[in-house]
Amino acid sequence: MLLALWLGTRQIIQPLRILESKAATLALGDFKSIQAPVGGIAEIQHLQKELVEMAHKVQDAQRSLHGYIGAITAAQEEERHRLARELHDDTLQALIALQQRVQLAQLGLQPATRQDMPESVELNEIAALTEQTIENLRRLTRALRPIYLEDLGLVPALEMLAHETGQAMGMVVEFRRQGVEKRLDPAIELAFYRMAQEALSNIARHALAKQVSINISFTPASLIMQLIDDGVGFEVPKNPAEYAPSGHYGLLGLHERAELIGATLQIRSSQGKGTSLTVTLPAQSPTST
Ligand SMILES: Nc1ncnc2c1ncn2[C@@H]1O[C@H](COP(=O)(O)OP(=O)(O)O)[C@@H](O)[C@H]1O
Ligand SMILES: [Mg+2]
Repeated sequence: MLLALWLGTRQIIQPLRILESKAATLALGDFKSIQAPVGGIAEIQHLQKELVEMAHKVQDAQRSLHGYIGAITAAQEEERHRLARELHDDTLQALIALQQRVQLAQLGLQPATRQDMPESVELNEIAALTEQTIENLRRLTRALRPIYLEDLGLVPALEMLAHETGQAMGMVVEFRRQGVEKRLDPAIELAFYRMAQEALSNIARHALAKQVSINISFTPASLIMQLIDDGVGFEVPKNPAEYAPSGHYGLLGLHERAELIGATLQIRSSQGKGTSLTVTLPAQSPTST
């Protein structure tokens, strides 16, 4: 009787307890620990085998999902590139030609035509509207395809982004760099830039911040980018996909962008005290140069 009880504990209860704790770590994303045998009766071993198989399937699915997201991100960048070129080469050039025609027409008005004559007023309005549209289009193409980034690198591009965003949103966006700037793989620079754009757009839309800063720090061990705002803050979801079902993909996209280049993303926020977002790319990351 005692022997049966002892055997039951050893062969069933203990292995089940171990398996249960391994299943819990599996749920947290640890795919390794489930593989070490837990022993016990055949049914328990069978259960463990099923769990191991399931873990493999989940891992495979995750891998292909990441490959897919990487491909979509690359296609999206290509499309932005193409759009920016078309807008720049066709639409913008056409507007500039229009602007020159308007200027000629302004000059062509009889000198006697007074500034407050209807023709004059009309032409001045058209000129102002054209100039505004050209300016907006330039901003749009810069956002689609950050040429500063390609030509000058991450630091000048972020500095420009800070300046432009500050102006557009009517708030102070400070920019600070630490360490010696180093040019990185274009895909990495672009990922950092896109993450800064998304973080700034979140700040503009949600934070009600007065003060924003972008800090970038180059050290031999890592590249760290930080965006800090003094706005309303929010409860950071444990799982970045939490907002996705309601159509909010920004935070999820930030995590994916970071993961695609081997960086980590950390968001800290507290209600009323603002938010800080930190991207860290270790120097030995496989994709960094
Ligand atoms: N800097 C921030 N300050 C305050 N709230 C923020 C900030 N960034 C994100 N949030 C909150 O997180 C939510 C999810 O952000 P996101 O996934 O980018 O979606 P979206 O910007 O489309 O709402 C936002 O709706 C907002 O409530
Ligand atoms: Mg957003």
